[in-house]
Amino acid sequence: MNEQAVIAVEHVEREFSSRGQQVLAVDDVSFDVESGEFFTIVGPSGCGKSTLLNMMVGLLQPTSGRILYKGDAVRGVTGEIGYVTQEDNLFPWRTLRKNVEFGMEVRGVATDEREERAEAIIKRVGLDGFQDRFRHELSGGMRARVNIARTLAWRPDVILMDEPFGPLDVQTRLQLQTLLLDLWREDRATVIFITHDLNEAVTLSDRVLVMTRHPGTVKMVYDVDLERPRDVFSIPTTDTFREVFDPLWDELQTEMREDAEEDSIGL
Ligand SMILES: Nc1ncnc2c1ncn2[C@@H]1O[C@H](COP(=O)(O)OP(=O)(O)O)[C@@H](O)[C@H]1O
Ligand SMILES: [Mg+2]
Repeated sequence: MNEQAVIAVEHVEREFSSRGQQVLAVDDVSFDVESGEFFTIVGPSGCGKSTLLNMMVGLLQPTSGRILYKGDAVRGVTGEIGYVTQEDNLFPWRTLRKNVEFGMEVRGVATDEREERAEAIIKRVGLDGFQDRFRHELSGGMRARVNIARTLAWRPDVILMDEPFGPLDVQTRLQLQTLLLDLWREDRATVIFITHDLNEAVTLSDRVLVMTRHPGTVKMVYDVDLERPRDVFSIPTTDTFREVFDPLWDELQTEMREDAEEDSIGL
């Protein structure tokens, strides 16, 4: 194991039983994420990305292999890791503000500081004026922003994010990518990010892990050697970006194409 690793994934497999059959979802996956890294996982739909995050945070156990968090095997849910799940899990009975405060309440942050931090992050994600709304009064894009804000608010050292910008329009997505990079620099957090969008992966990350199609395994891990700070609006148009993006896209599209071919012949 790498000494610097915050998370070490070691030969992890995960099976599910589905309709009486064992299905291998994640197959012998190993990688390390270092402290302070922005590490992104991309791969075709159904290749086991969400399953991997669920195992990192202790919601699911590997069938074999193990995951270490700061050197110790993850055995149950750890409250130290921030997790922005693919579906927002906002409490419908709490206002937006109270949803954002929740993680800090659980961790015993004093009321004044809690309110101040919640207010600041609500403004930064562009939701000022909506503090007293309930979930059903918010659009999909607004819910996605609260979902992100409620985790960033308690400033976890390690943040897992599962396609957090999925439901957003391009403009909001770029604004929130900028915010995420700013907060990541300010807080020196470690981010493990999932996306199906390779542009987003290259724009944000230090390293990108490409998974194979189902059952998911590691195809390659690629260093993104682009200067920081990065301007998310303009970076995809630069030549250096293309040099990183193109070979990665070759790998990823092969997996996506073969996945589509298998589906079409009913495998
Ligand atoms: N609770 C479950 N029971 C049975 N199969 C599951 C379960 N969760 C995930 N799977 C299967 O495991 C595979 C990986 O799923 P998932 O991790 O959600 O993929 P991704 O996030 O990459 O789209 C899929 O084939 C999915 O159907
Ligand atoms: Mg998923």
